[in-house]
Order: sequence, then C-alpha cells, then structure tokens
Amino acid sequence: MTAKVLITGAASGIGLAVARRIVARGMEAILWDISRDALEAARAELGDSAEVRQVDVSDAQAVNGAATSLEGATHLVNNAGILGHRMDWHDLDPAEVARLLAINVTGFMKVAACFMAARSPHPAGAIVNMASIAGDNGGAPGFASYGASKGAIMALTRAMARDFAPEVRVNALAPGIIDTPIQGAVMADAAARARAAEGIPMQRMGSPDEVAEAAEWLLFDASYTTGEIIRIAGGRR
Ligand SMILES: NC(=O)c1ccc[n+]([C@@H]2O[C@H](COP(=O)([O-])OP(=O)(O)OC[C@H]3O[C@@H](n4cnc5c(N)ncnc54)[C@H](O)[C@@H]3O)[C@@H](O)[C@H]2O)c1
Repeated sequence: MTAKVLITGAASGIGLAVARRIVARGMEAILWDISRDALEAARAELGDSAEVRQVDVSDAQAVNGAATSLEGATHLVNNAGILGHRMDWHDLDPAEVARLLAINVTGFMKVAACFMAARSPHPAGAIVNMASIAGDNGGAPGFASYGASKGAIMALTRAMARDFAPEVRVNALAPGIIDTPIQGAVMADAAARARAAEGIPMQRMGSPDEVAEAAEWLLFDASYTTGEIIRIAGGRR
C-alpha cells in the first residue's frame, strides 16, 4: 500500500531532506511550512509528488484548516521547530518562552491530533517526532526554553506511542548538531563551527540527510519499534 507522508517544517534543513527521501521512494509528500518562498523552492525541486501548504503550526485554526486536505496521509514527520532567541535567566521573557513552546510543543501536539483524526489507515502507519539531544542535556547556554521544549517532545513521544498503539508507531529522533539554517544563530562563523566539532566524537556536524536516513528507517522499515528516542548525534551527549 502506498504511503503519503505529512512533514512539518518541510521547506528547509532536516524536513526537506526527509521530503527528498520520500519522493525518491516514489511516495507522495505533503509539505507544511511557515515560509512561502522556501515552500515554492521545495515544490520546484521535488515536482508533482510534493504538495505544499503554508501553515503556521502554532496557529490552531490554520492547522485545522490545512488538516481538511490531509485525506490519504498515512505517516507524519512532526518536525517544525525554532531555536528561539538567546535568553539569559536575568532577562527571562515569558512571552518569548510562550512563543517557542507554542511552536515546538503545542504545535506538535495539535498537528499530531489533526493527523490522527484525518489519517488514512495503513498497515505500517507511523509518526516520527523531531526532538533533540538538548531535551536530555538541557540545551546550549542561553537556550533553556529550547531544551525544555525538546524534553517535552521526548515525553510526548512516549505518551503518543502508548495512546496511538497499535495502529500507529511513534518514535523520536534526537539530533545533535546538524548543519542547517537553525544553527545560524549559534554558529555564525567557521571558528564557532570548529569549536562545536571538537565536542563531537565524530569530529563534525551531521548533515540533514543523516537525520532523514534514520527517519526513513523509523517510518518504513521498523515494525516493532515504538516509544523510542534515537540519537543521531555523532556520539555527542
Ligand atoms: N539542526 C540541528 O542541529 C537540530 C538539532 C536537533 C534538533 N533539531 C530539530 O530539527 C527540526 C528541524 O530543524 P532544522 O535544523 O531542519 O532547521 P531549519 O530552520 O532548517 O528548518 C525548520 C523549518 O521549520 C519551519 N518553521 C519554523 N516555524 C514554523 C511554524 N511556526 N510553522 C511551520 N513551520 C515552521 C521553518 O520555516 C523551517 O523551514 C526542528 O524541530 C529542530 O529543533 C535540529
């Protein structure tokens, strides 16, 4: 049975790498992202197998509206996320924390709920959530909200795996430092990138496709794996 995969945050980085793999397998991909321009570029690259839609996952009404076109979707890669601004404890800005959690946590939950309501049954239905090793280690200094949001994704993955079984397997990936635009805020120059690589046993950042490779396995090849969080971090903790 053919699969149709909804990917959020699909117009860049890891989400786009997953979309490329889906299309290369001859499957259909539904790409949701907040960036219209990036979506247009993805559509131009991926062709007719990709259906794109501008959706802000933190806007529950927008997600409800977009979910009306989810018919036939069998798998979900819940991936849209932001790092947020650097914020020290003495400058704590609750509005900025709320904005980040609305995208990284509530948005994830809302998309998963809509997907579950609209999805088409598939013998190997599955969800992959994009967590981060920051969910375990607390995140980089100044990015505690991000770490907290990814810790929440880990807990949500276990809750979803329990609640959506046996029809849908739910797992998370916890990437380390992956070379995508999200790292721009923390790794603007070559020196910062070299310093980051020093702390990674594999001595380099990962590529988006190295995360997509694991997502593809969890989506289509795994069959008894659910509720798990797999690090794709070059050995970094
Ligand atoms: N790159 C890393 O080092 C790394 C490490 C661990 C986890 N992650 C996670 O991987 C996921 C993908 O990140 P990436 O590295 O590919 O970054 P990215 O910035 O390249 O991609 C994120 C995408 O999400 C989209 N997006 C942002 N806010 C959105 C919203 N409100 N609604 C819909 N789309 C929205 C962006 O437009 C962008 O296309 C994120 O959840 C991120 O936290 C990344």
